[in-house]
Amino acid sequence: MPLRSWSESAQSNADAQWDDFDPTLYVQKNYSTVLSVDETIISIVRAHFSDHFRRVSGPAVRGIDVGAGANLYPALSMLPWCDEITLLDRSKTNLDYLRHQLAGHDDVWEKFWRKLCLENAYAVLPGGPWARLSDVAKVELGDILEPVDDPGRWQTGTMFFVAESMSTSTEEFHRAVRHFLEMLAPGAPFAAAFMEHSQGYSVGSTWFPACDVGEDDIRASIGRSAESVRTYRIGRPGEVRPGYTSIVLACGFR
Ligand SMILES: C[S@@+](CC[C@H](N)C(=O)[O-])C[C@H]1O[C@@H](n2cnc3c(N)ncnc32)[C@H](O)[C@@H]1O
Repeated sequence: MPLRSWSESAQSNADAQWDDFDPTLYVQKNYSTVLSVDETIISIVRAHFSDHFRRVSGPAVRGIDVGAGANLYPALSMLPWCDEITLLDRSKTNLDYLRHQLAGHDDVWEKFWRKLCLENAYAVLPGGPWARLSDVAKVELGDILEPVDDPGRWQTGTMFFVAESMSTSTEEFHRAVRHFLEMLAPGAPFAAAFMEHSQGYSVGSTWFPACDVGEDDIRASIGRSAESVRTYRIGRPGEVRPGYTSIVLACGFR
């Protein structure tokens, strides 16, 4: 599908067809194998979370994956430490996908878990990840652009390819980043991934909007609501699909 110009495709989050998002096609296209970009993301996030929780062990940890959609590896990356993981999304088709995966996961996700297991905290999880994920994860309909009901409720969080991949509006991008961080308790470790300078993307024949932000915009947006953040540029331009310049991974502490 040809890329559209920004003016032709300007779309707010509310304009996009989230209930037409096809999770099966999305997984086939993006997660049927562990791409080298995912392997790099996993290695950084795995170290970020396990280094933190090795130093800081405490009572119950609640995690949240915002815009979880059809990707289980952000939730899996928090699993060893969480008694509860909220999988938040506004798309009914993606929420159904997540519910089905909790009832019986597809084989593709085993490969992602094996990459996480290169760190001991994951490898030694009693009984493996799947029964535990079904126990602790709850799938929730929600909109990250709405005001946060319960600020600071979660002690860790992830948000992968959401804030910049939900709208062409820069204001909505910043609002999603701010709300994600407001959900987290002060000092909570987080990981968020972004497609830099994305021009939008299709899932099957449905087009979804994206916001044109660069690494500096991403770092500045996060920096306004976080104690610290470090960003990483991952992969080559267009390695995963046409129409973006790099994956930017941000890891930090609220
Ligand atoms: C590009 S997909 C990313 C999915 C997944 N996190 C991943 O890593 O592949 C964007 C996700 O954001 C969700 N989304 C879009 N607008 C949202 C909103 N306002 N609040 C919460 N989730 C939203 C979509 O339904 C979709 O699952």
